[in-house]
Amino acid sequence: MFPSILIVDDEPSILQSLQGLLADEGFEVSTASNGYEALKHIEQDSPDLVLLDIWMPGIDGIETLKEIKKNNPFIQVIIITGHGTVETAVKATKLGAFDLIEKPLSFDKIVVSINNALNFRRLEEENKYLRKKTIEKHSISGECGAVQQLKQQIAAVAPSDSWVLIKGENGTGKELVARTIHQLSGRSSNPLVDVNCAAIPEELIESELFGHEKGAFAGALAKKRGKFELANDGTIFFDEIADMSLKTQAKILRVLQEKQFQRVGGSRTLTVNVRVLAATNKNLEQEIEAGSFREDLYYRLNVVPIEVPPLRQRSEDIDRLCEIFLQESAKKNRTAQKVLAPDALKMLMNYPWPGNVRELKNLIERLVIMVAKPAIAGKIFRCHIILKPAVSPAPRPSSCSGSTASRRPRSHLRRSICGASWKPMTTISPTLPNRLAWNAATCTSV
Ligand SMILES: Nc1ncnc2c1ncn2[C@@H]1O[C@H](COP(=O)(O)OP(=O)(O)OP(=O)(O)O)[C@@H](O)[C@H]1O
Ligand SMILES: [Mg+2]
Repeated sequence: MFPSILIVDDEPSILQSLQGLLADEGFEVSTASNGYEALKHIEQDSPDLVLLDIWMPGIDGIETLKEIKKNNPFIQVIIITGHGTVETAVKATKLGAFDLIEKPLSFDKIVVSINNALNFRRLEEENKYLRKKTIEKHSISGECGAVQQLKQQIAAVAPSDSWVLIKGENGTGKELVARTIHQLSGRSSNPLVDVNCAAIPEELIESELFGHEKGAFAGALAKKRGKFELANDGTIFFDEIADMSLKTQAKILRVLQEKQFQRVGGSRTLTVNVRVLAATNKNLEQEIEAGSFREDLYYRLNVVPIEVPPLRQRSEDIDRLCEIFLQESAKKNRTAQKVLAPDALKMLMNYPWPGNVRELKNLIERLVIMVAKPAIAGKIFRCHIILKPAVSPAPRPSSCSGSTASRRPRSHLRRSICGASWKPMTTISPTLPNRLAWNAATCTSV
């Protein structure tokens, strides 16, 4: 690849000498002797980089820079000037110039600056491409009414700076919703920092959230920035918020109210600008009643509540989700793409999916690896989703308000994978309760 460079200067001797030297370095070089000519050339040829003189007749370098950046923000511009003042440098930098080099020009300096600018552009493009891939990979799939409503809610709330409380059962896609809100918000070019409230030990939480100064405690060998600081100008996502201890809830409430904090062992007060998203699979109203969640924190977080529906309430989407997961798994495992036989799809649509989309995704991945045939038949699922009575765990509080979590037969099911022979590990007992018999009938009828 030969990066293309446009040199813009009204001095013919500079155009000539730079053109020759840069061409020798392997660049594809063109020239323009004023701003108008440069803009016309850029419109037709879109170079990778422009070397731009400031003082020129007609429109000067600063005006030309403004026009270039207006229509082509990814073109790198290096200013060359014989009359460099701090004011000009500041103005050019504010307008997006990559560097400013003073005349008389040092060729080595120019080549270093050009290479830095081109590397920066390459990284920017790579970053843009990876972001796009990530958004595509993590997009919310599904077209049924409940998912369309969810997408509409996300589209409405994302551009606002409002805080959002995302509720839903395990594996429904709460984290995916949080990521989508961030991606569609004005903060998307800044970080999304997630805090897994269930995974951080109590004694580390302060340092994790607020950071610490060197020597703040035994083992604090260097200064560390906390999650709040890292999320500045971006979004902080508190996942499994109900698993945060009351003590930690009090600490974050203060920061959320005042937007200020100090690093552990530090005395400087830091101010942050963060948008807060939180997710939970628990019923926070019930947690408040039980005394394990602060009411004031709940009202702070619950500005816009979003409920992610369980998969059993959107079974029309199972077909599409399977197609996506079959495709993803084949790609990931470098195998040929498999299809579902119609009887298999019917069976999946009737299964209650206690583990929601995550359960479906994992099951498909497992079958893509384990099944040799190109089509996955219903009888194969019968081997993989085995229903039998289990020892009932303590009843979980129902999930979010309006959810049907308490009605589903979750606690009566245990799924298991059969061994290499693909035979069911157990048969379904004729004495099972009626609702289990429904599942058993569904499974054995295919
Ligand atoms: N609508 C969807 N389309 C495509 N993939 C989805 C969808 N919903 C969820 N997924 C995928 O399912 C998996 C689980 O989603 P996610 O982690 O967002 O769920 P969760 O509600 O946060 O789960 P948990 O409560 O266990 O933390 C992820 O791999 C996610 O990409
Ligand atoms: Mg999650």
